Amino acid sequence: MILVTGGAGFIGANFVLDWLAQPGAEPVLNLDKLTYAGNRENLASLDGDARHVFVQGDIGDTGLIERLLAEHRPRAIINFAAESHVDRSIHGAEDFIQTNVVGTFRLLEAVRHYFNALAPQDREGFRFLHVSTDEVYGSLAPDAPAFSEQHRHEPNSPYSASKAASDHLVRAWHHTYGLPVLTTNCSNNYGPLHFPEKLIPLMIVNALAGKPLPVYGDGMQVRDWLYVKDHCSAIRRVLEAGRVGETYNVGGWNEKPNIEIVQTICALLQELQPAADGKPYTDLITYVKDRPGHDRRYAIDATRIHDELGWKPAETFESGIRKTVRWYLDHPEWVARVQSGAYRDWVRVHYDAEPVAG
Ligand code: NAD
Ligand code: DAU
Repeated sequence: MILVTGGAGFIGANFVLDWLAQPGAEPVLNLDKLTYAGNRENLASLDGDARHVFVQGDIGDTGLIERLLAEHRPRAIINFAAESHVDRSIHGAEDFIQTNVVGTFRLLEAVRHYFNALAPQDREGFRFLHVSTDEVYGSLAPDAPAFSEQHRHEPNSPYSASKAASDHLVRAWHHTYGLPVLTTNCSNNYGPLHFPEKLIPLMIVNALAGKPLPVYGDGMQVRDWLYVKDHCSAIRRVLEAGRVGETYNVGGWNEKPNIEIVQTICALLQELQPAADGKPYTDLITYVKDRPGHDRRYAIDATRIHDELGWKPAETFESGIRKTVRWYLDHPEWVARVQSGAYRDWVRVHYDAEPVAG
């Protein structure tokens, strides 16, 4: 089996669902702490599926990790678990340091001991894939070339600094201890199951509720958007064929200023579900105070993963954003439970017990 950490979050849950939808997929051991960002309901379609074993726990809990590794003997680990929201890291960085830095360190240590005890033939195929972000590279000038894997790490927020630290730990555990690691640095994801604290889902749910659409600063910050299922396919490809010790940048060749994203969402909602009061959704756009230290531009050069591994995204931004808006329109209950906080009761209400397999 494979061990996925953070598999109840946005990208992790999409990854687990896509992985198990593949014919002949290996089972998944899914370890997630279920912080505010973890939503067990994201995995409800796997209820009763013996190929999915869910465990609530912390990547920093060495005893738990050691027990899980000994019991389930995964042939690969994909580490999604992290605190992921930049604005939250600005308000308070403690959890980011604990999970992204200390947690990754403890996970690496437990995995190193497990790896060292494997039989030589099992060691050969073993991989630790660390899921990271383009934010570790810092901010680009408007006309600078996109981030390649050679770009130096220049993180600017507590979040990106903690992710950069975790990337360095992963690199060091390869160079010093020979752990067979792979790292992916991906650009901004969007798609189903995205927690509505991040730009795209926040704009969709606020617009539908007739609430202001808060655009930071002048709205001209640029992000490079990738549909989440394309990120998942890139991770599968890197796991399958990536060179041990290497990093792979993952992106959609799709740079857009924030205000254009917000306007696109407004236009799609206008087409698919016009507001009851007849007013255009764009009337809700509200410019607000900028994020402190806001990175101006991210862009990923995804040449390596394309040329070496033959990966490219399946979705264009036009097709991906339409699917995303459609998903939010089709899942008002998911949105309501996330907004009310009721999703945190999901395990109790739905399973009437502690988290169990499936
Ligand atoms: P998310 O915040 O939606 O999900 C994170 C998950 O990790 C949650 O389920 C949470 O409960 C779990 N978690 C947090 N702390 C944990 C701990 N100590 N132990 C176990 N589980 C823990 O995040 P996401 O957007 O799905 O991002 C997943 C990964 O991908 C992160 O490492 C993030 O840095 C990286 N990434 C995200 C993006 C993006 O655009 N969202 C882009 C590139 C890379
Ligand atoms: O680049 C990859 C990163 O993308 C991931 O590593 C992070 O985990 C993920 O959260 C995301 O970080 P961003 O800070 O780019 O994403 P966010 O959705 O928070 O913001 C996107 C842009 O939109 C950013 O320039 C800030 C702006 N923004 C965001 C919010 C929430 C607004 O203008 N208004 C808002 O209300």
